Order: sequence, then structure tokens, then C-alpha cells
Amino acid sequence: MLVMRRRSSLPLLGKIFSPSARVLSTAASRRGFSTSSLPDIDVADALRTESERIEADMAGATKGPFHKIGSSSPWAGDPWDTVFEAQVDAAPLLMDSPAALAIPETEADRLALPSERAILDEYEQRLQQRSSRHLGYPYNLVYDHEDLHRFLRYSINNLGDPFVSSNYGVHSREFEVAVIDFFAKMWKIEQNEYWGYVTTCGTEGNLHAMLLARECHPDGVLYTSTETHYSIFKAARYYKMDCEAVPTLPMGEIDYDELGRRLAANKGRSAILNVNIGTTVKGAVDNLDRVLRVLQREGYERENFHVHCDGALFAMMLPFVEYAPQVSFERPIDSIAVSGHKMLGSPMPCGVTLTRKEHVKKVEMRIDYLNSVDTTIMGSRNGQAALFMWHALRRKGVQGITKEVRACLETAGYLRDQLRAHGLACRLNDLSSTVVLERPADENFVQRWQLACEEDIAHVVVMPNVTREKVDVFVAEIVASAAAHGRTTPVRDDSPLAMLADRAWGGDLLVNS
Ligand SMILES: Cc1ncc(COP(=O)(O)O)c(C=O)c1O
Repeated sequence: MLVMRRRSSLPLLGKIFSPSARVLSTAASRRGFSTSSLPDIDVADALRTESERIEADMAGATKGPFHKIGSSSPWAGDPWDTVFEAQVDAAPLLMDSPAALAIPETEADRLALPSERAILDEYEQRLQQRSSRHLGYPYNLVYDHEDLHRFLRYSINNLGDPFVSSNYGVHSREFEVAVIDFFAKMWKIEQNEYWGYVTTCGTEGNLHAMLLARECHPDGVLYTSTETHYSIFKAARYYKMDCEAVPTLPMGEIDYDELGRRLAANKGRSAILNVNIGTTVKGAVDNLDRVLRVLQREGYERENFHVHCDGALFAMMLPFVEYAPQVSFERPIDSIAVSGHKMLGSPMPCGVTLTRKEHVKKVEMRIDYLNSVDTTIMGSRNGQAALFMWHALRRKGVQGITKEVRACLETAGYLRDQLRAHGLACRLNDLSSTVVLERPADENFVQRWQLACEEDIAHVVVMPNVTREKVDVFVAEIVASAAAHGRTTPVRDDSPLAMLADRAWGGDLLVNS
């Protein structure tokens, strides 16, 4: 039996961020039609200003520890406080049988198969159940894109360059450009100085950025920390770049002194730096300014280095954190990539990469067939993704995103404190919502909560849909699991779990031995 506690959740956000009646009426009259043709609007609600609404919402949010933010993803049930129980996951579904999913060759075959509806209904249940208990991967489930469902009937393809029109008319390039403009402003690069596009994911952004780096510095050596996401090493392999994997400090930042030594050893060749704005496993943010100082100290001039910032999750968070270090184009950097389905939230993987305009000229090729230029990694590009990103940004706005980011950091601190209070080994990096903890000994527990693990550690990434209430459920279960199955001990002296005890993290920590 599927056990669930469902509350009607949806979506305050629509009201909170819907345009005021005045804006609608102005927009309508500019287009030459009267507001009487617009759908009915709750005037009292519509006349409240945007900031009033946000303030009211924030006041509500501070009322208790279980506050909700935004609206839930429609497919996640109520991700704030629902934990769908495991039975549906444990039982094999129709979709687990290749024979049930087989594509029929004849009508007789079709009649022998279960209906698509039966298969899809079961699939939806499984997705709901899994969405309610995923803590290891940084996907924000707080979105509501129902307004966009109608566009799924169109083959929206942004093939070609976002800034150059092509002959294919069913695109969303205007929305894509609006998204790029938002990120350009957030990462502080002047109008006319940037180029970018909506990618399929953070990985594509990294692949594109590394391609540009290699085109700018064909003989360059890539320097990146050993805790870097595999997409950067993949780029080095694809593009046959020499790569120096630089060791890390215990908390996961690049070892700046070792970086300096490697730069000194390769002097004479350009340096391509990948700076991690949030590592995948520990959420460690490389200190960009310190990396730049190391380059300067080793005598690298601006024309001899190229800096990419891999900010898959955190590049969308740092700008909204008070007193955070500055990661922007005001520094001598060359590109930033971010995932769209992570901090922003989207039902399909997506992302953004942004670079200095002059760099992209190095790869640009005119394609007659498109009547556009080829500047991106992919040919056909998901126009739905650009539309969904635009919609999420537009509805949440800067205030909405700021609120979500701050809630994630707060809840991550709460999770860390709860785990520690129960004697479990865990750490939380500054600027991070990724809580690193000892790997639970019970693999079923790991699967149940979809924790991401590396050797003897696991992590929980606190996203806006991970509330304190959900944290409480998780902590109660992990404590029970540790009592029943025992604790993990470091697999070697310098294992990731052993590293959690390092004083560099601050405070002290008992790791089982
Ligand atoms: C630091 C970092 N870079 C890049 C990526 C790749 O992002 P995506 O999964 O969107 O391809 C990730 C994904 O977790 C990541 O953590």
C-alpha cells in the first residue's frame, strides 16, 4: 500500500509573482487592446506591489520552522513534507519488465501488451515516491510550470546561435536571450561584451568553455583540482588537452601552494584554470581571488591565462548570499557555467554558459542550411528548456531566488547540527548547502534516500524542497539505521571520512575508528 500524507499545496507562487493589474493594463494598451478582454483578476490582490507580496510571503515564512517557499513541483506530490513510503518502489512494476515495454510489431502483439495508461500510471507513482525522498542530488523541486504545459505540443528547437536568427521559425530564442541577459547581469558583464546560450546541462557548459579555452590557448595546460567534476576531465580527454589534476585541501578546495608549484614548473605554456565554484561532493568553493593571485605571483600575464568557473550549483547561489566572495566577470575570468535544473529548478536538465564575446568568434562557423552560425556544442537545441528557465526566473525573480538560497543554507546548518547532536560525523563547508556525512552502513538506506556516496562518505544537498520537517524524518531514520547496522569507519588513513576529522574544517569531530 502506498502511504502518503498529501496536503493541497499548489501554488501560492502564481499569485505572489503574477503581474499587477496596472502592469497588465499598460501592457495591454500598448498592444492596442482593452483590459476587458483579459481574464478576471483579483484586483485587491493584483494592486499589491510585487515587493509587498514578497514581504508578506517572507513574514509568513518566518512564522515557524516548517515554512514553505514557492510552489511544489506538480510531479513531486508535496515535496516539503510528504514521504511516500517504500512499497511501491520495492514491488516490480510493469515497466520493470522489458516484455511489457516492448514495441509491438503487429496488432496481435499490441493486444497482448498491458495498456500504455497502466504502465504510465505506475511510472508516475514511482516518480512521486522517488521524488519525495531524494536528498543526494541537487535538484530544486520547487517549481510550477503548468502554464507551459501547452507548449509541449510544439517542436521548439533553438538550433543555431541564440543571437542570430535562422530559417526555422518554431523557436524560443527571445526567451533564451532574456535568460542569458539575466545571467550576464548577475555575473556582471557589460552589454555587448558577452555571449552565451542555454545548454542541455552543466556538463555541456563545461565542454563548451573548455573548447573555447583550448581554442584561445592551443598549447595551454589545464589545471584543476582532483575533486573537480568529471565533465572537466572528460573535456580534457575529448580535446586532448594536457591536464594537471592538483590535489585538494581537506575541505575540498584546490591546494593553492601546489597549484603554484605546477604553474611554475610549466612556465612558458599558457595556463587554463578550472575554478570550482562548489565541488560536487563536498561543496567546496575554490577561492577565485587566491587562484588569481597565484597566477600573478607565478608571473602569468592576462594574455597567458584563461579562467573558467564551474558553478554548476553554486554560481546560481553565491550572488544571493550575503558577504560571499565575488565570482563575476569583473574579475579576469573567461567563462562561467551553471546547471539550470539544480538551484533554479526545471523538469528537464538544462544550464547556461556565458563567456566573453571575443572568445566565441574562435569557433563560429557560418552554416547556410541553418541560415545561422554554428557556435554551440549541439546542433538542435532544446527550446523548451530555454522557455522553462525563463519562466522559473520570471516567476521567482531575484527576491524569490534569494529567499530560496538563504533557506537552503539555513536548513543545511540545521541538518548538520541535528546529525552532530546524534553523534554522527558530518561537515558543512562555508557557502554550501551540501552536508557531508559518514556513509550509512546500510546500502538500502542509501538507496532509500538516494544519497550520493564517495568511498566512505555520503552527502545530502539541501535544496528548497528539503524542509526541516523532512530533515527530521531523515535524521530519525539515519539514527535508527546506524543503531541497527553499525557505523562506517574510515577505509584508509586519508580517506574522505578520515579527512572529515581534519582541523581545517574548524571545531572538532569524532570519526569512528
Ligand atoms: C561541480 C559540477 N560541475 C558540473 C556538473 C555537471 O552538471 P550537469 O549534471 O548539469 O551536467 C556537476 C553536477 O553535479 C557538478 O557538481
